[in-house]
Amino acid sequence: MSSEADQVLKRFLAEQKERVEHALQQYVPSADQQPHRLHEAIHYSLMAGGKRLRPILIIAAAQSVGGNSEKALPMACAMECIHTYSLIHDDLPAMDDDDLRRGQPTCHRKFDESTAILAGDALLTYAFDLAARPIRNVSPENQLLMIRSLAQYAGLGGMVSGQVLDLEAEGKQVDLDTLKNIHAHKTGALIRTSCILGAIIGGGSNSEVVSLGRYGHAIGLAFQIADDILDVVGDTATLGKPVGSDEKQKKSTYPQLMGLEEAQKQADQLVDEAVEVLASFGSEADPLRQLARYIVTRTH
Ligand code: IPE
Ligand code: IPE
Ligand code: MG
Ligand code: MG
Ligand code: MG
Repeated sequence: MSSEADQVLKRFLAEQKERVEHALQQYVPSADQQPHRLHEAIHYSLMAGGKRLRPILIIAAAQSVGGNSEKALPMACAMECIHTYSLIHDDLPAMDDDDLRRGQPTCHRKFDESTAILAGDALLTYAFDLAARPIRNVSPENQLLMIRSLAQYAGLGGMVSGQVLDLEAEGKQVDLDTLKNIHAHKTGALIRTSCILGAIIGGGSNSEVVSLGRYGHAIGLAFQIADDILDVVGDTATLGKPVGSDEKQKKSTYPQLMGLEEAQKQADQLVDEAVEVLASFGSEADPLRQLARYIVTRTH
């Protein structure tokens, strides 16, 4: 990426991250609510930072079809609540057993396991409170469709099933199709859904929604391949989570299956595919084009 394009993307990411964080402050009940420990834990994990990639994808997808991204903010916050819940539970001793997340002790380390489990539960259910809020110019039928997609891809048809498959594959040598399926579910599903929801909120046509779903599928898989690579070559301070966690847990990952170089190649190829899908979109889709490249070149 040219350094000018780099600067444009950096600015876009910084501006949108700030916008999402402002919306989270607005839409998520404050930390001083009762029960205090629960709200404190929610804020601790939710406001610890993070790239806010999924909400930014919702915003960028809405813009790519010529839509107003302001009205996408409650859904963008809903997605970040679901993502943050998935991280809190992913780090639990019964799952990946990690001590560091977003540059600070994981939720169960800072509080305790029961609080972390319940903070995750509360974030997941609160997401549906946000997702069900009426959106200007979106029909109730379309909103129901979005809520159903969110439920499906966060749960049985996506992330939760992917997490189960990920745990089942620990210590095993799985083939590429199996690994692709794990990654597409545990991580790809929420990323793909973010692109689809953004497209619907932005008023995209059916074919635009389908295209953004294909784009999201490709970058979702690329995102987890990059995550696997960073677990090997990244550094803990930059990542804000422990490097080498996958090896410690004997996870099935792209680098473990095919080596770092080939894994990077596969991720790059998926990005090319994603950008190709956007060929018929205008310059409104430039942020999505740049985000696709960023996903495989990022350092955290
Ligand atoms: C980490 O997601 C978990 C995966 C699905 C790989 P992110 O890398 O988006 O984490 P944050 O939100 O920036 O902390
Ligand atoms: C995470 O995959 C998928 C989730 C649904 C959270 P990882 O277990 O690789 O994510 P990190 O590396 O802990 O962020
Ligand atoms: Mg995991
Ligand atoms: Mg993990
Ligand atoms: Mg990882």
